[in-house]
Amino acid sequence: MNLLKTLGRGVLATALALPLAAAGLTAKAPPAAASDNGLSIRPAMGWSSWSFVRRWPTEAKMKAQADALVSSGLKDKGYVYLNLDDFYQKCDANGFVVDQYGRWAIDEAKFPSGIKALADYVHSKGLKFGFYVTPGIAKNAVTRNTPIEGTSYRAKDIADTTRQEKNYNCKNMYYIDYSKPGSQEFVNSWAKQFADWGVDYLKIDGVGSHDIPDVRAWDKALRATGRPINYALSNNLAIADAPTWRQLANSWRTQGDVECYCGPGPNGSGHPLTNWSKITSRFTSAANWQQYAGPGGWNDLDSLQIGNGDQIGLTADQRRSHMTLWAMAASPLLIGGDLTDLNATDRAILGNERLIAVNQDGVAARRLVNSGNQQVWHKKEADGDHVIALFNTGTSGNQTVSVNWSQAGIVGAAAVTDLWSGQSGGVVNGSYSATLRPGETRLIRATPQAGSTTRYEAEGASYSAGSTVDSNHGGFSGSGFVNTANAAGAYVEWTVESATARDAALTLRYANGTAVVRPMDVVVNGTAVAANRAFGPTGAWTSWADATLTVPLKQGTNTVRATATTANGAPNLDYLDRG
Ligand code: GCU
Repeated sequence: MNLLKTLGRGVLATALALPLAAAGLTAKAPPAAASDNGLSIRPAMGWSSWSFVRRWPTEAKMKAQADALVSSGLKDKGYVYLNLDDFYQKCDANGFVVDQYGRWAIDEAKFPSGIKALADYVHSKGLKFGFYVTPGIAKNAVTRNTPIEGTSYRAKDIADTTRQEKNYNCKNMYYIDYSKPGSQEFVNSWAKQFADWGVDYLKIDGVGSHDIPDVRAWDKALRATGRPINYALSNNLAIADAPTWRQLANSWRTQGDVECYCGPGPNGSGHPLTNWSKITSRFTSAANWQQYAGPGGWNDLDSLQIGNGDQIGLTADQRRSHMTLWAMAASPLLIGGDLTDLNATDRAILGNERLIAVNQDGVAARRLVNSGNQQVWHKKEADGDHVIALFNTGTSGNQTVSVNWSQAGIVGAAAVTDLWSGQSGGVVNGSYSATLRPGETRLIRATPQAGSTTRYEAEGASYSAGSTVDSNHGGFSGSGFVNTANAAGAYVEWTVESATARDAALTLRYANGTAVVRPMDVVVNGTAVAANRAFGPTGAWTSWADATLTVPLKQGTNTVRATATTANGAPNLDYLDRG
């Protein structure tokens, strides 16, 4: 698998999505504009200190992990962020110790050379440096009434001392009142300090929906630095505000921590770092948040709990399943384990380039099956390849997990590659099954055979306002069908690719459970190819029929629009096959 080729395809897909939005059509995904800060066109990859180093980060430990990221070969695979999480700061009895401008002071016992020196070291290794903050302003800044750098304002001018922010370390963080002059400047001064130190990634933690003003202020402040800083929100963000997170940031945690806090050390630190139920709980959030992921903004399922063999709390099968879900969901891949103690199995898991390519293809997979201990996930990449993951999430007993090609929208035969092993599975027709051990996964790439039909699902097309994607009448392909409004002018418009200019056979699958014909005009690239074509009763809404017509396609991108011509609207529309 050629990673660069995959990246290039993804970027092209983004570019192709734009004209739809510009034309005001109902586009499937993404539903909201992504941050235009130009960062994280693909999910971030690297290492974070929280899972393993936890509350005791030091300069020496961070450098050791940076060294190991390089010597393990993982940097060359794309894991480039080295992120320092919480507990680099200093507390006194009143919360965070602050500098002369009210920003958190660094604990010099842990970081004697300072953060800039650490960032310089990380950069000298060809890596990028990540850092951590939470919303608000420290109580000690307010008590000392520290000046806000470059302004005549002071901490007391901007703090709302009636409310305290969430914080996991020294606490005592007041809300900032963003209606007050000096508030944005305070955040700007903090962001500028980070940029001056060489920060390339900033996690803002303890963020809830009440912190949207802080999230905006940090977005503005990071942009104002002029330094590209990948902007990550944490943790357990509300899905109701997903469009806002997507607009403002490059990633957002979809749940609480993946760590189990069940180790023998203080605050549950030490191994095990996690357990299987912490991983399986992510399946549902990944499915629910799927629609919000796309270039520039990603659903962060939390750190990868891989790196120290079974002692991390997962079997090797479970670790491969964990990596598979994160890859399919296009989650950031931030390793949580100790890189200085990687065993061969974990190095192979983290370094599998076929898995990394799936993660970096710019597409978040959808869940096709969620039944007992069986999960099936699917995504279609920009070049038409399908990637399918089959999971046995149980802890005892084998499961045979299957997918019908029709569920994935694959028509005809497809060449299968097992992405964990790299082995060919031959050319497969109809369906694919795997018998899986408890916790095991099978990840395959299915490449439709040349010359075969390409399917364009209606639910992946554009459609007129008032249409819905329904799944209440069985027998459809993909995840549903489009039920247009009962109105003349209701339509579905597909974008159909053709390698050459030619006459192509199109098959339109539809159901009409009424007793009357539902005629539609079919227009290709703006030219009518069928007027008032009859789509007669099919007997039931669950009885699907095929209508075929031959149309001229030009080379490249074509539009095919089917528009209802009577007040009854269109029949239910399942897909368009291009022969
Ligand atoms: C019913 C049916 C829908 C269909 C609609 C229609 O409500 O359940 O699937 O689209 O009729 O008349 O268009």
